[in-house]
Amino acid sequence: MKYFSYLCRVFIVHIMKRLFSFLLFVAVTATSFAISVGSPNQRIKLIFDITLKDSVPYYQVFFDGKEVVAKSEMGFLLDGDKDLKHGFSLNSVDVKDFSSTWMPILGQYAEIEDKYNNCVVSLVQNSTGRTMRIVFRLYNEGLAFRYEFDKQDNLGYFRIADEVTQFAMTDDHTAWWIPGAYDSNEFFYTKSKLSDIDATKVDGSGIGTNQVFDKNAVQSPIMMKTSKKLYLNIFEAALVDYPAMHLLYNRKKKTFNAALAPTPVEGVKAFMQTPCNTPWRTIFVTDDAREILASSMILNLNEPCKIENTTWIKPVKYVGIWWQMHAPGQGTWNYADVPNIKLAETDWSKLTPNGRHAATTENTMRYIDFAAEHGFDAVLVEGWNVGWEDWAGQWKEEVFDFVTPYPDFDVKKVTAYARAKGVELIMHHETSGSATNYERRIDEAFDFMKEYGYNSVKTGYVGRIIPRGEYHDGQWMVNHYNRVLEKAADRRIMVNAHEPVRPTGLSRTYPNLLACEAARGNEFNAWSVGNPPSHEIDLAFTRLLGGAMDYTPGIFEIKMDYYQPGNPCQIHTTLAKQLALYVTMYSPLQMAADLPENYERYMDAFQFIKDVDVDWLDTKVLEAEPGEYITIARKGKKYGQWFVGAITAAKARKAVIDFSFLQPDVKYIATVYADAKNADWQKNPKAYTITNYIVTNETKAKIQLAASGGCAISLKVATTEDLEKKYKKL
Ligand code: NOJ
Ligand code: CA
Repeated sequence: MKYFSYLCRVFIVHIMKRLFSFLLFVAVTATSFAISVGSPNQRIKLIFDITLKDSVPYYQVFFDGKEVVAKSEMGFLLDGDKDLKHGFSLNSVDVKDFSSTWMPILGQYAEIEDKYNNCVVSLVQNSTGRTMRIVFRLYNEGLAFRYEFDKQDNLGYFRIADEVTQFAMTDDHTAWWIPGAYDSNEFFYTKSKLSDIDATKVDGSGIGTNQVFDKNAVQSPIMMKTSKKLYLNIFEAALVDYPAMHLLYNRKKKTFNAALAPTPVEGVKAFMQTPCNTPWRTIFVTDDAREILASSMILNLNEPCKIENTTWIKPVKYVGIWWQMHAPGQGTWNYADVPNIKLAETDWSKLTPNGRHAATTENTMRYIDFAAEHGFDAVLVEGWNVGWEDWAGQWKEEVFDFVTPYPDFDVKKVTAYARAKGVELIMHHETSGSATNYERRIDEAFDFMKEYGYNSVKTGYVGRIIPRGEYHDGQWMVNHYNRVLEKAADRRIMVNAHEPVRPTGLSRTYPNLLACEAARGNEFNAWSVGNPPSHEIDLAFTRLLGGAMDYTPGIFEIKMDYYQPGNPCQIHTTLAKQLALYVTMYSPLQMAADLPENYERYMDAFQFIKDVDVDWLDTKVLEAEPGEYITIARKGKKYGQWFVGAITAAKARKAVIDFSFLQPDVKYIATVYADAKNADWQKNPKAYTITNYIVTNETKAKIQLAASGGCAISLKVATTEDLEKKYKKL
């Protein structure tokens, strides 16, 4: 019988070899077959096989002929006595090349190419007869694979105890990682050798939900660089109805094992029902770090847009009643200072106001005026609704009802005022982690939004999750975030989720997911040790691969002792770098996060934030090195105008900007917002210069960036008047 199945295997692979020889190479020896598929440019090669011992499926990855992922096992342990790991044999292999293009509703490019070689391996488990497919996709900048299960009589419902997918590294690479924690991704990144990973040594969340689940656990995406200067990154795409994948590092074997966020049921990580599939496991492999930032692989691995009419989905540049609550001693979300409040039993009109409540009618009107005057689309107002007296850290079911304004917030008046001024208001739904409360009240909450003309909502999940026992990154919450997104799409509402599971390209399917936080935002600089100078670069190589982030850049008043003498907190960048972030961190939702009165004092620098686009026709990654620097040029959808952003980490450097992306034979005026000569993020962060230059597509400029500095450039075609001004060449 064994010999017969071996003969069949040989026969199948021989047929396939003939059919697909241009894409697929199948080597058959007396004891094993090996399926090998290349990327479209043939630099990446995948090998799939089944071990002789125990017949466990495994894969290997090569780049330019050198092994970059060593033999790594695939499959699942199940809750119960069976597994989906051992005793597999090959049923069939199907290899095809695919190439198409699609147009994102909002994005970094007007059009995205989706080009890959697809390899479907169908397996059968000999002892159970259960079938499992592993689908590989090879792109030029990386590869992806996922597990698929058909509906089958002997595999209906099953519970995953562990996904045993491995990523075996070939050396002790340098890595940029955050600790494995199921409830928070609000950490700064640590750069270390893989052998030095110790998740317990990192503190950085400060919000009480940052428990690390294992010393050797890191979150995906993890960025790596090899001693041979190759760049690797392990992540996932299209996370739907499944827990998020973290990684457990085995130092001895130099191997990462998939570590899924658990359910509250002991021993169960995921509940499955066939037909079903897992998210894609992705591995970027390249010798050019810029390719990772320019890639659309994660988006490509997601389903096409499911929303039929998308005309209501628009990019949003906004200001808001927000920094006022984060900067020390300014405003509060709460109206009164009283603890231990019960939502159903409290009459807020009877409480004594604390005098510092920020979301008042008058303050909101002031922000609306500011937004209207400076061309912003919207104003976010946090702290407008009752419940903030007792909102955080209680693991409490009923904190907010999402429909009752505080006595000093006249929702009718402010929404009418905003409408008259041509500005939208952004709704805020902080759930305090109580997803059950939110789901119970969401229809009413969305009705309220529609009644007053709100078209977008910022949600928030601070604290531990209810249902108790669930995690932010678990399957139940993944489904919750997606349910909210679908419901919002039905009501034509755009979403900006804070503290969700990190995104995995789902904005292709639901472009109403404008952005989300899912990482350590700029707010941490206001009240904690903050985000180190490399942070926004580290984010680009990790978190941002999954989708846009509401990072809230644009803080000009860098040091918090401006508000509170002696306060040591500060933004860990120069002011010019805050400007550059609007270009380097892609998001169709961008906030000008500082207080209006602070912008009033730096109107010349504020001009860049007013001008910069947030939705793009094209993107060129000019320079990129993990942990060190990024320079990106983007062409805006609004007026076809180019913008450039360059940022550096702690080391001052010269950004090298090659303007060959511009049209030939056209002269442009480049307005360069740069660090002043004596700028430094610690000693002199607010020193900047603004200078106009002439540039053409032949210009290659070197611009000095201070320590944790940056440079932002807006370009426009020079008019005759401009040319008369005789600006210098850059
Ligand atoms: C944390 C969010 O990230 C922040 O933006 C918000 O202001 C607070 N939670 C309150 O909801
Ligand atoms: Ca947050």
